[in-house]
Amino acid sequence: MLGLPEDDNERWVHLKQRLLQRKKLVIVSIIVIVHLILFFSTNAFGYFKILIQPTGDKSICPIADSIGADWFPDDNSTIIEILQDEMFRLKSVEKLSRAVQVDTQIGDEHPNVPDAPEVWTKFEKFHKYLEKTFPIVYENLEVEKINTYGLLFTWKGKNASLKPLLLMAHQDTVPVQADTLKDWTYPPFEGHYDGEYIYGRGASDCKNVLVAILESLEILIGKNYTPERSIIVSFGFDEEANGRYGAEYLATQLEKKLGPNSIHAIIDEGPGLSVDALSNRIIATPATGEKGSLNLGVELTTPGGHSSMPPDHTSIGIVSELAYFLEQNPYGSDLSAENPMLKYLQCAAVHSDEVPTLSKKAILRAGFDKLAKSKVLEALTKNPVAKYVIKTTQALDVIRGGEKFNALPENVKLVINFRLNVESTPEQVKQKVLDYVLTVADKHNLGVTGFGKKIRKGDGKSGYFNVTSLHELPAAPVSPTEISAWDELAGTTRYVYENFVFPGLGYPIISAPVVMPANTDTAHYWNLTKNIYRYTPGFLSNAVKDTRIHSVDERLPFDNHLQLVSFLYEYLQVVSIHASDTKTK
Ligand SMILES: *[C@@H]1O[C@H](CO)[C@@H](O)[C@H](O)[C@H]1NC(C)=O
Ligand SMILES: *[C@@H]1O[C@H](CO)[C@@H](O)[C@H](O)[C@H]1NC(C)=O
Ligand SMILES: *[C@@H]1O[C@H](CO)[C@@H](O)[C@H](O)[C@H]1NC(C)=O
Ligand SMILES: *[C@@H]1O[C@H](CO)[C@@H](O)[C@H](O)[C@H]1NC(C)=O
Ligand SMILES: [Zn+2]
Repeated sequence: MLGLPEDDNERWVHLKQRLLQRKKLVIVSIIVIVHLILFFSTNAFGYFKILIQPTGDKSICPIADSIGADWFPDDNSTIIEILQDEMFRLKSVEKLSRAVQVDTQIGDEHPNVPDAPEVWTKFEKFHKYLEKTFPIVYENLEVEKINTYGLLFTWKGKNASLKPLLLMAHQDTVPVQADTLKDWTYPPFEGHYDGEYIYGRGASDCKNVLVAILESLEILIGKNYTPERSIIVSFGFDEEANGRYGAEYLATQLEKKLGPNSIHAIIDEGPGLSVDALSNRIIATPATGEKGSLNLGVELTTPGGHSSMPPDHTSIGIVSELAYFLEQNPYGSDLSAENPMLKYLQCAAVHSDEVPTLSKKAILRAGFDKLAKSKVLEALTKNPVAKYVIKTTQALDVIRGGEKFNALPENVKLVINFRLNVESTPEQVKQKVLDYVLTVADKHNLGVTGFGKKIRKGDGKSGYFNVTSLHELPAAPVSPTEISAWDELAGTTRYVYENFVFPGLGYPIISAPVVMPANTDTAHYWNLTKNIYRYTPGFLSNAVKDTRIHSVDERLPFDNHLQLVSFLYEYLQVVSIHASDTKTK
């Protein structure tokens, strides 16, 4: 038999085996590579990264030290009296109740004070009431009246080199709608107290804050206290109508007096303490951001004529087409690393065991990981309140046009109100709207003027759009949380709430920043400091049901008011001592 020698044959088998093994290895490698490609190019790797995200590091949201009595020479009898003494409570009820009794409603459109003094005289009554009720404040503090009804109090501190603290509130309230009067359980200007709640227009927005500030000042002055740091108080009178004549004048006056960036911190009305839905724990939520707002007008002018010989599309039809187009393209949600809502979620997540681990991991990565962010946004979009905070909203609020059944409408006007999230600018939204207008204009041969510039010529006979900006306010600059001004708020909150309001709670009350969906008077004060906190530190178990803010039966649990007075009493002292920066971190 002709064949390979024995050992050659063996070598041949060996070689075959090795080749086979190598082939196997190649196949296995290919499979691994394909899997790796799949893994990295699909979400699998993203999910894997979320899965291995550690959750033990709490430094992303440090808990402030409790700051209270050991910072200043004071026993705890005053705070206990404010929170628990029946006599103090009844006197305080009386003060707030009678403040509610003075009607200070204002509507949207008002002329300035010098132009129509008669419109504003109701505030004269309110000033008289304050002066009578808080004589100690009026006797001891410098009181200025700005644009007649803006109130500016200055309590000079001992150390002029420290920046003053500014407390704010507003004197005005939203109106009571006449056809809802019958629905009020107690008349809106009676200031009724039922033993638990105080009722009436302004009871929770925000005569409660205004009265609490004055009450806390009276207590401190009454104890011969003098702050290290000056304390300034400013009360506008048209916050519910953008603060044009109140806050704007007050802020201008302060900037003239003190210069830009001259305030330690501003505390104005805002959210307080509540139970966080994510962690099921009591949490304090000073707002460090405020959404922006933008009103755009879109006007379409077309030739008129008899409606027996109409064009295919009247100006009403064309504006409707644009309106449809706009609503088909809502704005997406975002949650950038700068957005206070992200910090809020992270604080709730790292300090609670109730947040599901996977959610925790996604929240911790959301600031820098696209997939994690999209998962968090998906969840937030299901929340009826949070969903408005994370996106720019668009509301087609006004449409006007058409005069007569048989005449073509020559002019149609649409007004769109936008509320801008922290991530978007008025410029971006204006450009987007203009793009839609241009698309519609192209289709109908219309001219377009956008924000004062002629953008499209049109055929000169079909008509033209005129897009204008009616009101513009960018989202507020986000206030910092890594500074002592924040620690003073968070630390005082812990001291007051953990020791006196909810003793035995069993966990520290963390403060986490949020974004206000609406604007406050602070929008006029940006030049004075970066440290603006919208914070009314009373506890509400349900912020909407407990206060019915702007609605029928507006009310406030009176405990909430006393908590605010006790907080301010402590906070003003904390800010004063902490101020000298001897004990900051
Ligand atoms: C557009 O509207 C603004 C504001 O009403 C007005 O001042 C301007 O003249 C209008 N422009 C055109 C081209 O109609
Ligand atoms: C209040 O002060 C008294 C006397 O110093 C002390 O015994 C008590 O524990 C304090 N209460 C709280 C809640 O801190
Ligand atoms: C803030 O400062 C800028 C720059 O000095 C000024 O133009 C602006 O009017 C000021 N804003 C307010 C609300 O006073
Ligand atoms: C005033 O405050 C400054 C800044 O904290 C501090 O350096 C200074 O010592 C204080 N002056 C007095 C008299 O306490
Ligand atoms: Zn308010």
